[in-house]
Amino acid sequence: MPKYSIQVNGNIERVEVDEDTPLLWVLRDELGLTGSKYGCGGGFCRACTVHVDGDARFSCRLRVSEVGDREVTTIEGLSGEPGRLLKEAWIAEDVPQCGYCQPGQVMRAAALLARKDAPGDEEIEAWMSTNLCRCGTYERIRRAIRRAAATSRRSDA
Ligand code: FES
Ligand code: FES
Repeated sequence: MPKYSIQVNGNIERVEVDEDTPLLWVLRDELGLTGSKYGCGGGFCRACTVHVDGDARFSCRLRVSEVGDREVTTIEGLSGEPGRLLKEAWIAEDVPQCGYCQPGQVMRAAALLARKDAPGDEEIEAWMSTNLCRCGTYERIRRAIRRAAATSRRSDA
């Protein structure tokens, strides 16, 4: 089997897997990073969202052979701003229900706030519409993102 070196959460990880192996399974099965979840495997639910060079990507459809030297960040490695503010806002708004979709939701939200520190309500809704939540926590997710963005603006003032 081919060997790959990929950057995950600031570490160089070496894995030996088939070239078609989805990044999600490398993260979960080879590296023990189980925060990224499997929902559909088809690019529909985004429970598997990670960052690849800062972009929100669904890792179930990204083959390990396509990652190259790009930096992968999972929910376990999400640090700094806005990750910290989002995690605090998620707790303050008591967002999760079953919790299954939540790592993907947080990673998607972090990619938004890394680009724009004050997204409007419509922008938040459109951006987050890719990520499904079977428990229907959408309104709490939006509130948490607004809270994190507002806290960020206050600390910048
Ligand atoms: S598991 Fe990746 S999009 Fe559903
Ligand atoms: S909190 Fe249960 S699927 Fe989103």
